Amino acid sequence: MPEASLANHEEAVAILDFGSQYSQLIARRVRECGVYCQVFRHNAEQSAVESLAPMGFILSGGPASVYEPNAPSLPSYLLELGKPVLGICYGMQVLAHELGGQVIASTQREYGPAALTVVDASHTLFRNLPANLRVWMSHEDQVQRCPPGFRVLASSDNAPIAACGDEQRHIYGLQFHPEVIHTPRGIDILRNFLFGVCGCHGTWQPASLIANTVAAIATQVGSAKAICGLSGGVDSTVAATLAHRAIGERLACIFVNHGLLRQDEARHNLALFRKHLGLRVVYADASARFLRALRGVIDPEEKRRIIGREFIQVFEEEAQKLGSVRFLVQGTLYPDVIESNAADTRAAARIKTHHNVGGLPEDMQFELVEPLRYLFKDEVRRIGKELGLPDEIVYRQPFPGPGLAVRIIGEDTAERLECLRAADAIVTSEVASAGLSRGIWQYFAVLTPVQTVGVMGDGRTYGNVVAVRAVVSEDGITADWARLPGDLLSRISSRIVNEVAGVNRVVYDITSKPPSTIEWE
Ligand code: XMP
Repeated sequence: MPEASLANHEEAVAILDFGSQYSQLIARRVRECGVYCQVFRHNAEQSAVESLAPMGFILSGGPASVYEPNAPSLPSYLLELGKPVLGICYGMQVLAHELGGQVIASTQREYGPAALTVVDASHTLFRNLPANLRVWMSHEDQVQRCPPGFRVLASSDNAPIAACGDEQRHIYGLQFHPEVIHTPRGIDILRNFLFGVCGCHGTWQPASLIANTVAAIATQVGSAKAICGLSGGVDSTVAATLAHRAIGERLACIFVNHGLLRQDEARHNLALFRKHLGLRVVYADASARFLRALRGVIDPEEKRRIIGREFIQVFEEEAQKLGSVRFLVQGTLYPDVIESNAADTRAAARIKTHHNVGGLPEDMQFELVEPLRYLFKDEVRRIGKELGLPDEIVYRQPFPGPGLAVRIIGEDTAERLECLRAADAIVTSEVASAGLSRGIWQYFAVLTPVQTVGVMGDGRTYGNVVAVRAVVSEDGITADWARLPGDLLSRISSRIVNEVAGVNRVVYDITSKPPSTIEWE
């Protein structure tokens, strides 16, 4: 789906992507400021960029060095347009390099927090900000000498020119990343650029996203039929609700029970769909065939491929019953896109085959409709609220499409699934009883393939180890382990060992992401 579907703007900003992992994060921050924006490749057609009528440009970072052969350069039209420009990291370096400054290629990478000293606190870019700020750096090269007409606006120990600008031409550069959460006041710097320099007013509302996404789905699907894989999570429910608004009864939602759901989840979801959604929902209980297909499979990527294939087969069979269905609506979010390195991303390495339903087979018959492809979870939650979805759906913790298969390390047998479901239900209910569920991104149990010795009553046991994972996160891309209270962990542990047959040890995962991932796989 073209990103223009997010539009309905009186004012907009263009983000030119030089290959950064963070380009969509910049876009999200700009949206948070109430300004519509669109991400273009740095070498996109001028006419495409100009059709947005941007009031300013933000140049993203990127992995290149300006001295590399074929390093991306500034588009020739950029400065001719005379609009404000903010270059971030590589964006700043390429500005400095092409405008007559000097960039030095450093062999020393600066990665992590830095203390920024603002040289002129009254400057528009740093208006209403303290003179000392915590910022996040991630660079090798840096600007050594400003181009003519520029002056230094801020510096850090390692980067004497950490921010610079030419007030006459409204061109600015930041060596650090204002878009990441590790630059706590970064959004204020972006706001100062958008409002103080570009003259935006911040009138864009996420609600306009709904109307325009609905219109874009209607255009894409035309008079054809679509199905939507509905899992009961916030992403697929929002995607289904938007698609339903767009094409009405030509949408059928399919809720597939792949046998890898949590305790009581199928029954609970069906009741929820009936009560709240007003969608046409087909229930396909395919648990037996999924488990058959997964028999003896241990490799996590192989599991994902099998699950993806089975999902599509079930969708195809159900679609056949509904008559010629051309489209499959999915609630894929931007973090899924970058982490699985799908379609149009060039930046991130593939971390997991991580599409909504696992790995999709290449010969799939459906065309995909992915209305949430450029959004982050909390933005989708806000849309869900706006659409009137119940809190129970809007604030549900994320649950992977391949379900408990990613939380059973080793083979997914019916017996091991039963064991994990029981342990997971204890984690869920105890976290909820402690009143902590809203503040924690995800909390769940993992069944490890490890067996250890224990002692219960007078006897020696040899049982399974269950791991408990709970993380706090803003978007699932990075996460920290949740500091759950000791007495809560203790209750979880003793209940699991006492109530779940075959488990004699519980461990708590205290790794952040990175270096770990949230799911164990
Ligand atoms: P990881 O384990 O990569 O997970 O740190 C990041 C977030 O993505 C969820 N996840 C998935 N979601 N399909 C999904 O829809 C998947 O295949 C999948 N795998 C992981 C995970 O639960 C976490 O929120």
